[in-house]
Amino acid sequence: MSVLAEEPTLRITKIKEHIGAEATGVDLTQPIDEVTRQRLYDALVDNVALVIRDQHFTAAQYADAASLFGELMEDQNRMYLADGVPLVSVLSNQNKDTKGGQAKMANNATWHTDHTNQELPPKFTCLYPVSLPDTGGGTAVCNMRDAYEALPQNLKDRITGMRTENTLISSVRMAAANQDIVRTQKESKTPPIIQPLVRTHPERGTKAIWFHKSKTERIIGMEPQETQDFLEELLETAIKSEFSYVHEYRLGDMLMVDNRSAMHKAGFDFDHSQHRMIYRALVRGERPE
Ligand code: SIN
Repeated sequence: MSVLAEEPTLRITKIKEHIGAEATGVDLTQPIDEVTRQRLYDALVDNVALVIRDQHFTAAQYADAASLFGELMEDQNRMYLADGVPLVSVLSNQNKDTKGGQAKMANNATWHTDHTNQELPPKFTCLYPVSLPDTGGGTAVCNMRDAYEALPQNLKDRITGMRTENTLISSVRMAAANQDIVRTQKESKTPPIIQPLVRTHPERGTKAIWFHKSKTERIIGMEPQETQDFLEELLETAIKSEFSYVHEYRLGDMLMVDNRSAMHKAGFDFDHSQHRMIYRALVRGERPE
């Protein structure tokens, strides 16, 4: 591992060539100086994913820690809040929907980026495990900027300029979704949000493939099912093991993902009689371009 920054306490090391950095020696419940904050921020943006080890947060402390990286935004599903803290939501395989059924989360287990149906989707997703299964249940993250760069030129040319129409849940993915979300979508009068399929990083100028298949109703000019098939094929071509990393959590990890360069997915490869519970905080981003 090459050392990226080392101070008396903070140490940041790379995890893989194309993705991931790990920070140790910092306690985000305590005040940190601007140099330390900027080193963490840069390690996240440069390496697409950053895990800050050995953090011990209440939900409120976690919100404060995440807000060191920008303004927090509410999760669009406000049903599952951590200890009532409005800016921290609970992702749990034991969440129930309003009818008392299992709140389905299967769409989180496919490659996606968060909240593409919002004009200002989160630039960072922060994940902090509170309860973990014995094995499995990691979060996979892929560097979609290097994945984009590695595409054949004709495919890059084809997808650059494509636009996606985004809703809370796409019509062809409703069966796998939380049924409260499906009901909200069916009653919604909100017009779809149009987003680029390839976006440019506002801080680095790099391009990355960027979408949430379950929120993509269509690519403009394609039918919904054709869109799903096209996006699936694009994922199969673009996602490569060298660009991806599965973060197998330890309690105390704060995993951060730069959504402007990454897609991620939840691991469902665990014993579902055990509890996987993650606190999620979202840092507001810019209008994707
Ligand atoms: C998410 O999709 O934001 C959460 C991923 C996870 O639960 O691992």
